[in-house]
Amino acid sequence: MLFLFSFLLVFFSANAAISGDLNCTTYKGTSFVYTPAAVACSNLISDAACEVLYVDPDTTAGYPSAGTDAERPLACYTTATATPAAVVQDMKTAALDTCPKTCGLCCQTDAYNCANVAYPRLDCSTITTAQCNSIIWRSIIATDCPSACGFCNEGGCVDAVVDCATDISICTTVGMQDFVNTYCQRTCGRCPSSTTYSSTTTASSSSSTCTSYNADSSSHCADWAANGFCTNTFYTSAQRKSYCASTCKIC
Ligand SMILES: *[C@@H]1O[C@H](CO)[C@@H](O)[C@H](O)[C@H]1NC(C)=O
Repeated sequence: MLFLFSFLLVFFSANAAISGDLNCTTYKGTSFVYTPAAVACSNLISDAACEVLYVDPDTTAGYPSAGTDAERPLACYTTATATPAAVVQDMKTAALDTCPKTCGLCCQTDAYNCANVAYPRLDCSTITTAQCNSIIWRSIIATDCPSACGFCNEGGCVDAVVDCATDISICTTVGMQDFVNTYCQRTCGRCPSSTTYSSTTTASSSSSTCTSYNADSSSHCADWAANGFCTNTFYTSAQRKSYCASTCKIC
């Protein structure tokens, strides 16, 4: 039975393979498989319309999904009609604007396309959708692995629970303060001042001058600074400040 199962597995994986464009995949054991972030976003048009525009090249393996190696629909990244096919950027641009989920390209959309911190506390490539929605995980992920959950535009500051914004009156309700301080930090403006809400605030705060800085929260700042952490624009000013305000001299 085990033999039969492993035979099927080999047969299966030999049949399917992600080729051409390997973005949003990770190498696992014997083949490249989609990361959870490959399919974590929504299409901008209906899924049904996307499946007509982007024909599944391999009906056995189906469309891209986390952990599988189903071949990507060719039109998602190339004008060619057979593999191996070269990446054609115009085809990708069109796919990202319409059907990033069907194409397994969510990780390249704006909300998912940023660098994680240099030394994340968890493995960013294995973060699941359940973790992205988890009260316990969201804040840590927003700081360390923003690209895994589409938090790239959040400046490291997210609500721990997902529906705070449906009733913002809770931000000022007396009996709700402990709750919103913990669970609705972004919506209610309760993030530590080291995090910022948008890149515009980030830009203006970093251009102001000051004479003292917050202490570094990481002990790796000297190493990171040597590797360009303080100047690398892959990191937001909020991220640099939250880890290495002193070393990077960020007010
Ligand atoms: C990732 O995407 C870029 C831009 O679309 C492309 O040029 C590159 O070849 C892709 N990388 C891999 C590893 O497939």
